[in-house]
Amino acid sequence: MFKIPAHTLFVGRNLVYVPECHSTNSLLSEMLQLEPVPEGTVVITSNQTAGRGLRSNRWWAEPDANLTFSLLVQPHFLTAQRQFVLTQWVALAVAETLDRFIPGVARVKWPNDLLLEGKKVGGILIENALSGDVISQSIVGIGLNVNQREFSFPGATSMSLVTNRFFDLNGVLEVLLEELEKKYFSIRAGQELKGAYLDRLLGREQARLFRDGNGLFSGVIQGVSPEGKLLVDRAGKLHAYQLKEIEFVFDDR
Ligand code: BTN
Repeated sequence: MFKIPAHTLFVGRNLVYVPECHSTNSLLSEMLQLEPVPEGTVVITSNQTAGRGLRSNRWWAEPDANLTFSLLVQPHFLTAQRQFVLTQWVALAVAETLDRFIPGVARVKWPNDLLLEGKKVGGILIENALSGDVISQSIVGIGLNVNQREFSFPGATSMSLVTNRFFDLNGVLEVLLEELEKKYFSIRAGQELKGAYLDRLLGREQARLFRDGNGLFSGVIQGVSPEGKLLVDRAGKLHAYQLKEIEFVFDDR
């Protein structure tokens, strides 16, 4: 069903395809407990039955219509404090893949939702293992809505819905794996992706509505801290929020 990419050095050279599984992140994690798995291994399925997302959410994807896969990397060059670099890496790789097929419209909603026309087209779940202070292993799970045409959640979309076309899943996967590898080499070489990530960030430097534990408030996203907290200016004072502490009340405009 899915092919090994033609132009990568390590990403996807070991491509494990399973027609159906519960969650590719969980399956890759289970494989790692049984045997050594080479870096760059991709576990991909056509039918993920219990996909997992951030904040304990589920990830729903119609069988045979979308990309649901997990990639193994061993980013020993990153300390735990710098793990947000991985989010920036993957979010930008997915955004730039979307640009190749649908030029110029992909945005990132902090921390790692991929949006087309204000709706969610992709999600990322990165699960790290630490060795001392260093990230020894990272399972990068990516869900990208490609050809699905109907969603029960109104805030979701797909590449096909946005363009009214159908896409070759293998073609999209190949470009995405190439982008992931190219950008992985960049972060490994110490290149900063923060600027490019901020350029894609939805709502940056615009007054928008948010909700925190105390209710609704208006704020302006100023950026993201090195640990990945969202920096929001509230009436002239900068606040740093973790994922569970803040909710966006706005959509893309
Ligand atoms: C989110 O938006 O909350 C993240 C969704 C991540 C979904 C992908 S699909 C492939 C991989 N396996 C999973 O169980 N989850 C990720």
